[in-house]
Amino acid sequence: MNRRHTQRNILIFIVTISLVLLATYLVSTFETNLVAWLEAGKLTGMIISAQSLVSALKLLLFAVLAYLVVRALNFLIFGLAFRVRSGFEAPTLVRNIFSIVGFSVLFLLIFSRIYPGINLGAVFTTSAIFGVILGLALQDTLGNFFAGISLQADRPFQVGDVISVGVQKHTGVVEEITWRAIKIRTFSNHVALISNSTAAKEPIEVCPRENLNARHVFFNTVFTESPAKTIHVVREAVREADNVSPKIAPTVRIRNLGDFAVEYEVKYWLEDYAKFNDTDALVRQRIWYAFRRAGLNFAFPTRTIHVQRKAGVGETDGVGGTIAERLSAVDIFAPLSSEETAMLAQSAMSHIFAPGETVIRAGDPGSSMFVVHNGRVRVQISENGRPRTVATLNEGDFFGEMALFTGEPRTANIVALEETEVLEIGHEAMKGVFQTNPGLVESLSYIIAERRQGLAAPADASSPHLDEPGGLLSAIRRFFGLTR
Ligand code: CMP
Repeated sequence: MNRRHTQRNILIFIVTISLVLLATYLVSTFETNLVAWLEAGKLTGMIISAQSLVSALKLLLFAVLAYLVVRALNFLIFGLAFRVRSGFEAPTLVRNIFSIVGFSVLFLLIFSRIYPGINLGAVFTTSAIFGVILGLALQDTLGNFFAGISLQADRPFQVGDVISVGVQKHTGVVEEITWRAIKIRTFSNHVALISNSTAAKEPIEVCPRENLNARHVFFNTVFTESPAKTIHVVREAVREADNVSPKIAPTVRIRNLGDFAVEYEVKYWLEDYAKFNDTDALVRQRIWYAFRRAGLNFAFPTRTIHVQRKAGVGETDGVGGTIAERLSAVDIFAPLSSEETAMLAQSAMSHIFAPGETVIRAGDPGSSMFVVHNGRVRVQISENGRPRTVATLNEGDFFGEMALFTGEPRTANIVALEETEVLEIGHEAMKGVFQTNPGLVESLSYIIAERRQGLAAPADASSPHLDEPGGLLSAIRRFFGLTR
């Protein structure tokens, strides 16, 4: 209600109460004159006596006065004082109870003053039939009334909260809680009235207005799409949408690996929960556009038969360039001829790891080395029980050569920092390469010696000879059964 409206109401109230006060004063003061005047004019007497008529008029005027006084008190106590103290308006139900009780008490007082001979209380209490009739008639009303009181006392929700009532899920924004019902505005802009007694029996889901409430939106992709990429793309797209709270970042999770799709859910928090329908729709729209830009594909119920050939030399592996190209860019393989690189590529196996997955575990035996094809990994050792990163390896870097070339256990953990594809090269393939390129053993022994120095605690402290290139060189030769 705006200020002008309130001022106008106060003015009307003052004028009305003044008029009623004046009328009450006049009737009370000139009561005998009025009775005499009515009797003299023979205006009464047939049905009702002049005195009774004047008493009824007095009762009416005092009742109106009592009503106005109760309204004024209601406004002062609940409209002003309560709002100033607690910041919000008192519930309608509480105001109504105050008005009913206040008015009833005043009316009984006035009635007993005007009609001292009639005991109203006795009329109500002695009439058993009246009590039964009243009880039956008010059964539902009283049920609602008391359920409403318990709702008010409990305060499980307030005006402005979104609630969902019962199994039928009547959902909407609470507009009012009256002595009879909860009034909610549904998202189709309909008004639904749920009686208090029904609400008291049904489960109610409350999404408080000041709370950050979450929503889930579902989508899916075909199995070939990378989960790490999908999650990143969707999270970034959703966090930008209107009404998505910036306080908590949306989470995107895989719900299920379904029959024909990877099924995801995105959980996001709303600033204004009452607008969840629009926001859900906007989030779905953002996901669609983000998919389009990132070249991701939604899945639909189809069965696709893939006839897949193993990626050979010179063929792309579907993620980056060719395997042979990648291997020829690795510095230790630079001296190899293109045929030798092609042979190596032929035997290389591609593996993909999710961010955070361990590719190699320290202490495990190992008979292969790896080249980072796409992505990044970290080399991690344990120092006083805590992980310490000693190096980060990027595309074109290699790892796992120590165990492969010396036969020792793995010296460190290798963990994927992002979605990472590695190419695994086994013992036999490397042996072939060494036989045709003996100089490779030497350059590798230097790299291994250098890397071993970066490790705080070499895996095998009982092999100090391995810490020098010379010792390493002969160890590698021995291990691979090389003569030179
Ligand atoms: P390997 O011991 O087989 O398994 C763990 C791998 O981590 C190891 O081979 C090396 O390839 C790699 N590694 C160990 N220390 C370092 C380092 N200081 N810098 C780079 N890579 C390392």
